[in-house]
Amino acid sequence: MSKRIQAKDVNVYYGDFLAVEGVNIEIEPRTVTAFIGPSGCGKTTFLRTINRMHEVIPGAHVKGEVLLDNDNIYESGVDPVNVRGLVGMVFQRPNPFPTMSIRDNVLAGYKINGRRLSSRAADELVEKSLTGANLWKEVKDRLDQPGSGLSGGQQQRLCIARTIAVEPEVILMDEPCSALDPISTLAIEDLIEELKEQYTVVIVTHNMQQAARVSDRTGFFNIAGTGKPGHLIEYDDTEKIFSNPSNKQTEDYVSGRFG
Ligand SMILES: Nc1ncnc2c1ncn2[C@@H]1O[C@H](COP(=O)(O)OP(=O)(O)O)[C@@H](O)[C@H]1O
Ligand SMILES: [Mg+2]
Repeated sequence: MSKRIQAKDVNVYYGDFLAVEGVNIEIEPRTVTAFIGPSGCGKTTFLRTINRMHEVIPGAHVKGEVLLDNDNIYESGVDPVNVRGLVGMVFQRPNPFPTMSIRDNVLAGYKINGRRLSSRAADELVEKSLTGANLWKEVKDRLDQPGSGLSGGQQQRLCIARTIAVEPEVILMDEPCSALDPISTLAIEDLIEELKEQYTVVIVTHNMQQAARVSDRTGFFNIAGTGKPGHLIEYDDTEKIFSNPSNKQTEDYVSGRFG
């Protein structure tokens, strides 16, 4: 239930604009990788290439290869909907369906993929997914109430439950704590630690302490200037990136000299 991600010479475009250039990276299964770097350097853009979400923007396209284990998700004939089932995504702002019940929110991704479930199987999946998202105990007595009644931190864990309900191999998170208070942030960080036992997790964060706390490996992205493409400057063990990076740009960034 966890796959290796490999990007080979990935260029990411919005129309003619080359937003991210020449990314090569190999991410091991059952690890947490953090992407850090200044705003606008292409972290979100690159992340969204890993589940073919990038191309939903008109004119947006990708060159190069992204492999899950040995399969290139950009090979002709691959259905992007299937890719998004294998590679789930959690966004910056928790986005549960507001009028839908907690239970139906968990099942939403499953239903979008056109699968059917008996009500007993659905109950089991709801409990398993909410347990996996560390939310079950808090919501088990109000599964039929709307998702919008939860706190921001709970809503984000609900979105994580919705993501894991479809049994992905990889979970992408784009600044999942940026809209949350410190306590909820810690709850999500604890959860990320647990998720890596089963999934390959890639998280974008602007919070370097968070990257240092939750990730095994860190990728530093940077841009040379406005209108220039972002590059993956350095990718290594998190400990090394924060204590003894190889690249001067990484060192300047993690030591707070810029960005
Ligand atoms: N929908 C879009 N259309 C055109 N350009 C975009 C779009 N989204 C992002 N960009 C551009 O792509 C570059 C990288 O942005 P982004 O991936 O959001 O950076 P980050 O997540 O690191 O802050 C920026 O120059 C940004 O303006
Ligand atoms: Mg971003």
